[in-house]
Amino acid sequence: MAKMRAVQVAKAGGPLELVEKEIPDPGLGYVRVKVHACGICHSDSLTVEGHWPGIHYPRVPGHEAAGVVDAVGGGVLGWKAGDRVGIGWFGGSCGYCDRCRRGDFIACLINPQVSGISFDGGYAEYMVVPKEALALIPDELSFVDAGPLMCAGVTTFNSLRHSGAGPGELVAVHGIGGLGHLGVQFAARMGFRTVAIARGKDKEALAKKLGAHEYIDSTAVNPGEALAKMGGAKVIITTVTSGSAMAEVLGGLGVDGKLIMLGASPEPISVTSLQLIGGRKSVAGWPSGASIDSQDTMNFSVLTGVRPMIQQMPLERAAEGYKLMMDNKARFRVVLTMAGNA
Ligand SMILES: NC(=O)c1ccc[n+]([C@@H]2O[C@H](COP(=O)([O-])OP(=O)(O)OC[C@H]3O[C@@H](n4cnc5c(N)ncnc54)[C@H](OP(=O)(O)O)[C@@H]3O)[C@@H](O)[C@H]2O)c1
Ligand SMILES: [Zn+2]
Repeated sequence: MAKMRAVQVAKAGGPLELVEKEIPDPGLGYVRVKVHACGICHSDSLTVEGHWPGIHYPRVPGHEAAGVVDAVGGGVLGWKAGDRVGIGWFGGSCGYCDRCRRGDFIACLINPQVSGISFDGGYAEYMVVPKEALALIPDELSFVDAGPLMCAGVTTFNSLRHSGAGPGELVAVHGIGGLGHLGVQFAARMGFRTVAIARGKDKEALAKKLGAHEYIDSTAVNPGEALAKMGGAKVIITTVTSGSAMAEVLGGLGVDGKLIMLGASPEPISVTSLQLIGGRKSVAGWPSGASIDSQDTMNFSVLTGVRPMIQQMPLERAAEGYKLMMDNKARFRVVLTMAGNA
């Protein structure tokens, strides 16, 4: 059996380890993808730390994968060897529950599949995925740029495009990391008055270069109050990993304003009804998107020039890249590359 290199965790909380594994074959309805690049998303910590219920270990994390279809299993129509594809968080769904039949695949009730959690992900030279998980990469996008668009990109693009904000309205992006630096670019390209909020001064110049019209340093001022002074936001997407930090921006919502939580935090968020009632404000969550949303994200990025800012590292340095991200030192996305597959 031919072998491949992969980086896996043997048990919840265990280290990321480079191993040799057999190259898997695609079964009925599956395809094998030769992975060229895979971004390291903060949500990979769910696999590494074991915070997602029911993970079977050892598990290979990674849901920002980009590569080439290498082998096609039975019953797969429409995909062929050589197609350039991306695989995100959405790894397929049942296709027949009420939500799926309404086209709401990301909210599947029966068999939601998550790359790097339900099956082995993109920290590897090959991965086998359900055909529903595939998004076609436009020719204009490189594999290393496509990877981060498969989660950080689609999550911010999809939440913003469904947020109800209109051209010229004030939209804030809270937390300028992997998700946030793409969120700023999408918000500005969608025609919103875009405000970036992050801790400290050092991200200000970068955020403005990415398209932010204004910047709030949340360590210098209360970010909610600063937003309110600007007129109040129609939408705030918050990508931070801390619940108490999310609560700090709530006061920045304008009339009909919506706080959309993208960051995943177990910490409860304190909000009173009085903060919401008068201005008809709301607090909501948003899960990335299905594979067609990833395809839309990539096409919009080509159309408008959105690209992730990346730091490339070879697969064998995955543990180092993961630590860089967890320490909030990645600028802004670490992307693993598979030299053997170049
Ligand atoms: N909803 C979804 O579908 C979805 C999809 C992907 C990721 N996520 C989640 O979204 C979050 C962001 O992911 P990412 O990949 O962008 O992570 P990342 O690159 O590590 O960025 C995390 C951001 O969180 C902020 N942060 C970290 N610790 C903080 C603290 N103690 N107080 C305030 N802010 C803090 C930082 O803000 P500053 O810029 O101010 O330093 C940083 O920009 C994660 O929780 C991830 O699991 C959700
Ligand atoms: Zn992710």
